Amino acid sequence: MTPARRTPPDAVPGPSVAVMRVLITGGAGFIGSHVVAALAAAGHESVVLDALLPSAHPGGTPPQLPGDRVAVGDVRDREAVADALAGVDAVCHQAAMVGLGKDFSDAPLYVGCNDLGTAVLLAEMASAGVRDLVLAGSMVVYGEGRYECSRHGTVRPGPRAEADLRAGDYEPRCPHCGTALTPGLVTEDAPVDPRNVYASTKLAQEHLAAAWARATGGRAVSLRYHNVYGPGMPRDTPYAGVASFFRSALARGEAPRVYEDGGQRRDFVHVHDVAAANAVALEAVRERRPASFAAYNTGSGEPHTIGEMAAALADAHGGPDPVVTGEYRLGDVRHVTADSRALREELGWRPRVSFAEGMKDFASAPLRDTRGRGRESRGRREESAVTLSGA
Ligand SMILES: NC(=O)c1ccc[n+]([C@@H]2O[C@H](COP(=O)([O-])OP(=O)(O)OC[C@H]3O[C@@H](n4cnc5c(N)ncnc54)[C@H](O)[C@@H]3O)[C@@H](O)[C@H]2O)c1
Ligand SMILES: [Zn+2]
Repeated sequence: MTPARRTPPDAVPGPSVAVMRVLITGGAGFIGSHVVAALAAAGHESVVLDALLPSAHPGGTPPQLPGDRVAVGDVRDREAVADALAGVDAVCHQAAMVGLGKDFSDAPLYVGCNDLGTAVLLAEMASAGVRDLVLAGSMVVYGEGRYECSRHGTVRPGPRAEADLRAGDYEPRCPHCGTALTPGLVTEDAPVDPRNVYASTKLAQEHLAAAWARATGGRAVSLRYHNVYGPGMPRDTPYAGVASFFRSALARGEAPRVYEDGGQRRDFVHVHDVAAANAVALEAVRERRPASFAAYNTGSGEPHTIGEMAAALADAHGGPDPVVTGEYRLGDVRHVTADSRALREELGWRPRVSFAEGMKDFASAPLRDTRGRGRESRGRREESAVTLSGA
């Protein structure tokens, strides 16, 4: 199909862009619904396929589903995917089970939705001749971030020992000489080290996408998102991220509870910037070489600590102030921050929402409704089942 050309409604004057019809899997979710909005603003059409999983939509069906064409269906269902792909130029694959889940019994669900679902989607794209894919990747594929030792250069510390965490000794040490390390920025060529089921499924999605590209001549880009936050973020479920717990606690009039000493470094990237990165990647992917796959870190480039994030949110909300608890969870990584230069330089993406602005806005932004879940009665145990490393 030869795409029509038109100038998007609110585009700045410049060359017109080819209108695309894009299938957004998971388009009813937190990030997917913002991608639909970003594509509409750029003059593109959206087809949404979303299973409305109860873990992501515990309050039931959202009142309004985004998209020009919407289907409630599962990416593991060949027929539903084939129908959704009709007339589509490119796919933006956001559908996935996110977070760490309740416990290991969730593993088949994660592998099913994330990896079997991706395989079904790619097989149907191959049959339908759809060649362009943008995948929602994740920083979790890297495990513990990048560190420098003054004597040994770049090193990769293993998981932290519980005795150290209990003693309040949170910083990972050089695996060779035991001295304190300086955290750095992870680049896309860093070795992967997925440390939980979710992380393994996110990495497998990339491997499947690369295999599909080689086998079909397709073009795939994975955007490895950092910790995404912003309006519409789900409330504090075992499937949500740390910004959502703090925000939800404040909404209940409670202090955000910060683990360790609050010095864990992350990159909090606003959902509007992530949605824009998807729109940019969808426009760029079709110009790439056939049979290609590339991954791009997608972060604000402005690392902050978890403590700073809690303080910024509490301040904008008007209190209460965060409490640093010294609690810890085995398996949490201490620092991981992305180097997102490649996405800026190669695709021309620019994050626009600063940390200060974004947190101020998020402190009063609506979260996704979780009606009927009895949030108040769940207490802390379930809250602490969620990873600080985000999705
Ligand atoms: N939120 C983050 O910080 C973050 C960070 C890194 C990567 N990601 C990735 O971004 C993507 C979107 O995440 P989100 O935060 O918007 O999560 P979300 O749970 O809000 O949205 C995911 C959507 O996918 C749908 N879905 C799940 N399994 C499906 C299936 N089998 N078939 C059809 N639909 C299905 C859900 O119903 C939901 O609407 C995911 O791929 C996630 O791994 C998110
Ligand atoms: Zn050393």
